[in-house]
Amino acid sequence: MTKLGVNVDHVATVREARQAIEPDPVAAALLAELAGAHGITVHLRQDRRHIKDDDVRRLRESVTTRLNLEMAPTDEIVGIALRLRPDQATLVPEREGEVTTEGGLDVMQNAARIESAARKLGEAGIQVSLFIDPRPEIIEASARIGVPMVELNTRAYSETCPRSPDPAGRAFSEEFTKVAAAARQAAGLGLQVLAGHGLTYRNVRPISDIPQIVELNIGHNIISRAVLVGMERAVREMLEAMGYRSA
Ligand code: PXP
Repeated sequence: MTKLGVNVDHVATVREARQAIEPDPVAAALLAELAGAHGITVHLRQDRRHIKDDDVRRLRESVTTRLNLEMAPTDEIVGIALRLRPDQATLVPEREGEVTTEGGLDVMQNAARIESAARKLGEAGIQVSLFIDPRPEIIEASARIGVPMVELNTRAYSETCPRSPDPAGRAFSEEFTKVAAAARQAAGLGLQVLAGHGLTYRNVRPISDIPQIVELNIGHNIISRAVLVGMERAVREMLEAMGYRSA
């Protein structure tokens, strides 16, 4: 079965909306693990707009599955990763002001920087993954860098079926085929294959069924659903706190 890594960044986004102490992404991570998540992912962005350095430190102490740190391959963030030692580091491109990661790494243009970051992290015993678009030349370039794993960007796939997948739809099948072909190519080159970005309860299954994909990273849709499925209980608990008797 394909494993699930849960990205808890947006728990911190809610916290930062009020610059408060809750909700705590570490508590969310532990609940995700209790529910069966195989790993926890956070993105320590250079602008620290959601996850902070101290969150990563506390996650490192608490997560008992695997901690995957998404990060730009900059000297500052590589230094933090070397100090905090996540199990895995996923190198991603970062553009100031972007709403979310916009695409995969430009492995060809930035080979030297990516290779240097990957080497330092790898030498410290951290498994390195590259977040890349599902394109043949990018996969070849990633294999040349010598990392053990890649995460295929499913954003274009997800955008072709935001609501319910229409497996007969042309856009769906084009983007799906790209991901499936990339997974075969990467696995054939000896890379472990992960995937993620934009996946939802509605469109996840075709991707999780791709045999070469060993793990998915999913964040926004899980946190969105958690807010809604937890709403009724949260309101009941507030009413109880105000003295109402539970129904
Ligand atoms: N993988 C990578 C590399 C990402 O940057 C993100 C978003 O932080 C995800 C997976 C998860 O994407 P989503 O939040 O859309 O599920």
